[in-house]
Amino acid sequence: MGQIPLRKLTELKPRPAALDHFEVASADELRAWQRDQLRWSLRHAYDNVPHYRAAFDAAGVHPDHLTSLDDLAKFPFTTKGDLRANYPFGMFAVPETQIARLHASSGTTGKPTVVGYTTADIDTWSDVVARSIRAAGGRAGMKLHNAYGYGLFTGGLGAHYGAERLGCTVIPVSGGMTERQVQLITDFKPDIIMVTPSYMLAILDEFRKQGLDPRQSSLRVGIFGAEPWTNAMREEIEEAFDLHAVDIYGLSEVIGPGVASECVETKDGLHIWEDHFYPEIIDPLTGKVLPDGAEGELVFTSLTKQAMPVIRYRTRDLTRLLPGTARAVRRMEKVTGRTDDMIILRGVNVFPTQIEEKLLTIPALSMHYQLVLSRAGRMDEMDINVEARPDASASDREAAAARLQHVVKETIGITARVNVGDPDTIERSAGKAKRIIDQRPPA
Ligand code: DLL
Repeated sequence: MGQIPLRKLTELKPRPAALDHFEVASADELRAWQRDQLRWSLRHAYDNVPHYRAAFDAAGVHPDHLTSLDDLAKFPFTTKGDLRANYPFGMFAVPETQIARLHASSGTTGKPTVVGYTTADIDTWSDVVARSIRAAGGRAGMKLHNAYGYGLFTGGLGAHYGAERLGCTVIPVSGGMTERQVQLITDFKPDIIMVTPSYMLAILDEFRKQGLDPRQSSLRVGIFGAEPWTNAMREEIEEAFDLHAVDIYGLSEVIGPGVASECVETKDGLHIWEDHFYPEIIDPLTGKVLPDGAEGELVFTSLTKQAMPVIRYRTRDLTRLLPGTARAVRRMEKVTGRTDDMIILRGVNVFPTQIEEKLLTIPALSMHYQLVLSRAGRMDEMDINVEARPDASASDREAAAARLQHVVKETIGITARVNVGDPDTIERSAGKAKRIIDQRPPA
């Protein structure tokens, strides 16, 4: 992979003076702030949300019991199930008249998860997204093409408000209509794009379809998130567009995008904006808190949110906590997958990102793929459906299929069928990609 020329970074030098207080504050100061805010948040939840009062009482804990950050481990977890059980507004801690905005995540089954914000919460959210864009190299005056979906999904409006807060010129395109995305990028010449990584690939295909060289586009920075993606995909996108690709993480229940974000100068995992969102890593099976550095499920407690405080919310995302580098706050490693997306194939655990990493090492294969699970008799089976690159010959495809099957068997330990199809045959999404198609009959 070619290095991205330094020219592209010269204008992106971090400017420490412009950073927020807790991006540079000492660990002691941050911990003291977190302890005080935790106490406030626990009290706020206990006093105003019947669910939390009942859950704390049942666990025999009270907000006054928190004297150190470690005491948080005594408090009960909150799950998506709790949010569903209190649908639609039961988790709100302020009167409905004070809710300035609602968002909801669609969810694959059942009711959506509803989240609410006061105007102060939207302010906090704008701040953390502005911080995230700045960490990615964004600056006031830059043009930002926002292709995250606008609507109940938090991606579009979350990115929009943050970009405005930083002082960017926002181009609120939303997702979809790929031809028009390319036209607007070509004509308006944005510096930054915010979009899911999988939809960025669809935009890339469209550039090529129109005979345009994506490396000649005005884009210098891409801020990609809302779904898992690998460092291998980062390199592909950076090389294809000649831009810097950084990761942004978040979830509706905690606030939306901007819970954590990568710094362009290090690209070494996502700095968690810990002055607003307190992270823990737990063993997903036992619920035990794990030390920094250990891999497990990420759990968040909001420290400043008014409308919908979350206490020890289980994200189901798997990662590790690491010390800060470009910023004082801790980092989380790129999310490798969700506990929900873990495929167990004949006793071996596998995440879609592991397959993604392998297929990107084979030149004849594109980055568009899907995993299809089926059952033959009592055995689960997996097909890896992947598109060939347009220039791959029939024999290249055959060799690539054999190669991928071999690599997956050797390194991950599972036997999968590999089907290399024509370009443009795998379903595209304008938002989050659907990686797993489960055709197994319900157990
Ligand atoms: O996806 C918020 C968001 C929008 C984040 C735009 C970044 C950019 P939800 O729809 O509630 O919110 O989905 C949250 O998406 O628990 C993760 O499983 C996954 N996710 C989000 N960002 C990343 C990321 C938005 N950078 C769920 N890497 C989360 C991996 C991510 N997974």
